[in-house]
Amino acid sequence: MVDWNGIYWGESGSVAEYDKKKFEEFAAQTSEELFRACCDNNGRLKHIIRAEHFNLEFIRTICETAEAARGVAKMEDKFMKGLLTSKSVLNYFHQPSSRTFLSFSMAEAHLGMRREEIRDIKTSSSSKGESEKDSLRTDSSYFDAIVCRHPSDIYDLFAVWVMKTSNRELPFINAGSGKSEHPTQALLDYYTDWRWFKGDLDHKVIAYVGDCKRGRTIHSGAKLLALHKDMKVYFVAPPELQIDEETERYLLDREVKVIKETHGLAQVVPLVDKIYMTRIQNEHGGTGEYDPNFIFRKKFLGMMRPQAILEHPMPKREEIDPEIDYIKNDPAIKYWEEQRNGMWTRVAILAYLFDVDVDIRRRYEKIKEIAEPKT
Ligand code: NCD
Repeated sequence: MVDWNGIYWGESGSVAEYDKKKFEEFAAQTSEELFRACCDNNGRLKHIIRAEHFNLEFIRTICETAEAARGVAKMEDKFMKGLLTSKSVLNYFHQPSSRTFLSFSMAEAHLGMRREEIRDIKTSSSSKGESEKDSLRTDSSYFDAIVCRHPSDIYDLFAVWVMKTSNRELPFINAGSGKSEHPTQALLDYYTDWRWFKGDLDHKVIAYVGDCKRGRTIHSGAKLLALHKDMKVYFVAPPELQIDEETERYLLDREVKVIKETHGLAQVVPLVDKIYMTRIQNEHGGTGEYDPNFIFRKKFLGMMRPQAILEHPMPKREEIDPEIDYIKNDPAIKYWEEQRNGMWTRVAILAYLFDVDVDIRRRYEKIKEIAEPKT
């Protein structure tokens, strides 16, 4: 059964029933069929909705393109800004967002795309009883891609279904769907790891800390890392915020070693290569109070493995010792850098969807060759 939570099906009960039934048929397909529904005729991803749709080749392409885009924008900004001038994108955010929204918006600007936004849903026609299906289809009529954040766990699939009902199937990018997935955050976290560990991400030990149950960044991030060999993941959270069954099963099926630590963070710090902190997602219920045993203390920096790093998708609250923000030039502290990495990752995702990623990588090779000739 589909969980309808959070999607508005319109004022008319009979139309809502009809649409829901149609969507249910779509959503009932196997995960392989749903993956194919997210690809174009050449098997290239067309919709970016779930971490389970990515393979290592795709992720490497995104990382290499992000790295190249960064270099090319510095040297030849005009080239970058000329790549997608004929394309437009709608940033459709039904939930609060600072970094994801701004980094997408700036990524689109780096590629020369025309962009518009809807952030205040009260201004949309749902206030006249229009269903979200019709709103999304209408809004998509004017653009070449849609980036969307939504409180429903299944909005990603819903949006792909809406795209498939139309004659203009645009690329849809999930910028966070309820508690379930945040695939572009997973890619930017991965890009941060990839840069630091120089692409070598097998045999790593990772700690996800905080709200493992409802943290969509953890769900998508852990699924991505499960593509690697010999991975061990600690979920460090009190019992009521421990990892959800679906994510745990996904990791176990891929032979990831899963350890649930419910007492505190201190004992896990010396054992891992990356510590990924998260805030309590109390917009989904509860008080938001953070158990002090799970705070990342300043002294933990000295207890980490020599190459280990500290990440956070942000926004942060009390889960990281505030003193840490005043330490400059400690390469282990990655969460500020991650925000900038997010913009380049999103440049890479858009470039991939519009098939100009290879142009960016080639241009970068050329620039490097001119700067450092081989002979
Ligand atoms: C995260 C999100 O929205 O899931 N933020 C983000 O996109 N960087 C994490 C959070 O809100 O805690």
